[in-house]
Amino acid sequence: MEDGQAGANGIDLRGARYFPGFLDRPAQEALVAAVRGVVAAAPLFRPETRRGKQMSVRMTSAGAVGWVSDRRGYRYEPRHPSGVAWPAIPTEALAVWEAVAGVERAPDTCLVNYYDAEAKMGLHQDRDEASFDWPVVSISLGDDALFRIGGRERGGRTESRWLASGDVVALGGAARLAHHGIDRVRPGSSSLLPKGGRINLTLRVAGVSP
Ligand code: SIN
Ligand code: MN
Repeated sequence: MEDGQAGANGIDLRGARYFPGFLDRPAQEALVAAVRGVVAAAPLFRPETRRGKQMSVRMTSAGAVGWVSDRRGYRYEPRHPSGVAWPAIPTEALAVWEAVAGVERAPDTCLVNYYDAEAKMGLHQDRDEASFDWPVVSISLGDDALFRIGGRERGGRTESRWLASGDVVALGGAARLAHHGIDRVRPGSSSLLPKGGRINLTLRVAGVSP
């Protein structure tokens, strides 16, 4: 394998596995079309943090449960805030999980984050799931984003990497609880989304009863 090329296990990124260019352009377009179906059924909303601050990303979910945040805290809910059930996880996203997660179990939730030119996401851990035995698989579509990853403890050394459309990152094993976030997106860097911006899909096993 040439230096910097992703093999079947991806490139190591602070213990996470990074698969640059995992999805080709037609696969990215198929996934965007599927995401449009999800958003039509369960529209994007702008969540609030526990402290009542609006997040800069807009989000929705697919699957048996979806991640929501408001003054009551971070949690998985069986319904979109409008009261409708979350739509099914697109088969194209499930196929990515099957290819990179390395586990038999299927995800039961797929978070859809939409970043406009100003959106970002602070360093955090994904820890609202019932078990951390299953990986988190994240798919990038659209504009490039500066992804930062650190360790399990807050405040340690971090490493940054520009994620491009079609890139996939899997946080599993020792990196399952790694701090991670998005410092900024590079507006206009991709032609995938006609109106620009970035979509991130995060597949997880929430493991909570709907
Ligand atoms: C997230 O951690 O929820 C999103 C990460 C990303 O947008 O790549
Ligand atoms: Mn996360």
